Amino acid sequence: MSTQINDAVRQAAREAGLTEEVVASFAASAAPRLRDVMASLVRHLHAFIRDVRLTQAEWDAAIAFLTSAGHITDEHRQEFILLSDVLGASMMTVAVNSPARSSATESTVFGPFFVEDAPLIENGDDIGGGMSGRPCHVSGSVRSTSGAPLPGARIEVWAADDDGFYDVQYEGAALAGRAHLFADDAGAFEYWTVQPAAYPIPHDGPVGDLLAAAGRSPMRPAHIHFMVTHPGYETLITHIFVEGDEWLAQDAVFGVKQSLIVPFVAHSAGPGPGGRTLDQPWSSAVFDIALAPSEPE
Ligand code: BEZ
Ligand code: FE
Repeated sequence: MSTQINDAVRQAAREAGLTEEVVASFAASAAPRLRDVMASLVRHLHAFIRDVRLTQAEWDAAIAFLTSAGHITDEHRQEFILLSDVLGASMMTVAVNSPARSSATESTVFGPFFVEDAPLIENGDDIGGGMSGRPCHVSGSVRSTSGAPLPGARIEVWAADDDGFYDVQYEGAALAGRAHLFADDAGAFEYWTVQPAAYPIPHDGPVGDLLAAAGRSPMRPAHIHFMVTHPGYETLITHIFVEGDEWLAQDAVFGVKQSLIVPFVAHSAGPGPGGRTLDQPWSSAVFDIALAPSEPE
């Protein structure tokens, strides 16, 4: 063998040997799951570094990127969730944890704007007070995948206003555009909010820089978030997306699923649901939700 080939073989063996050495260092982990996850992580990480022949300068840039993601992260801003989102890692985690069940409502990304303990509202209440945007009536039902209504299902909703901002993004703002309510005896729910608008994910940090460098848009199509729970059923974390939104095909976080796109029907001023008379145009959307039982039925 020529010296060149000898060197290449020695180099490959050295690289492969390092991977095995690091994998072996986790072999005695008390938890087998930790051992297996770390072994796979190390193998994929090393394979990636070898595949792209990562330079020292690129590794340094990666460390600087993660450091600045840490610096910008606080109780209101979670840059690591954004990073996971724009890499499709959040949606891949959703995908592997919610196996396709044809009759269950599909899941999508959670996002960073959920708030625990959002106010309890009654069916028919309005959570849009103080937010900009035209009134929007949202109604629907919660059923099991076998079609049985699920009275008492807990429904958390949260959405941005028509400027594309969540309440928590305003300095010192009160909670708005978010609430929880319970499905009634027939499994039905309804509430008023404002028509959501497309908005950019926070892009004034390292994740925004990455998107800009890649020529990618930070926009998300207009949507309303839902988290629906009922004892005995899988928790559903999902959105409804506004049919016709120009960003549906380019969601920065890859969250759009065809089954979650619903019409938001435009209405002129006048009588609306629940005896309400609207003095301006309004819209309405219907979302019928099917929860999968925790144990197959
Ligand atoms: C959201 O829809 O709230 C969201 C999801 C991912 C990243 C940023 C925001
Ligand atoms: Fe959102």
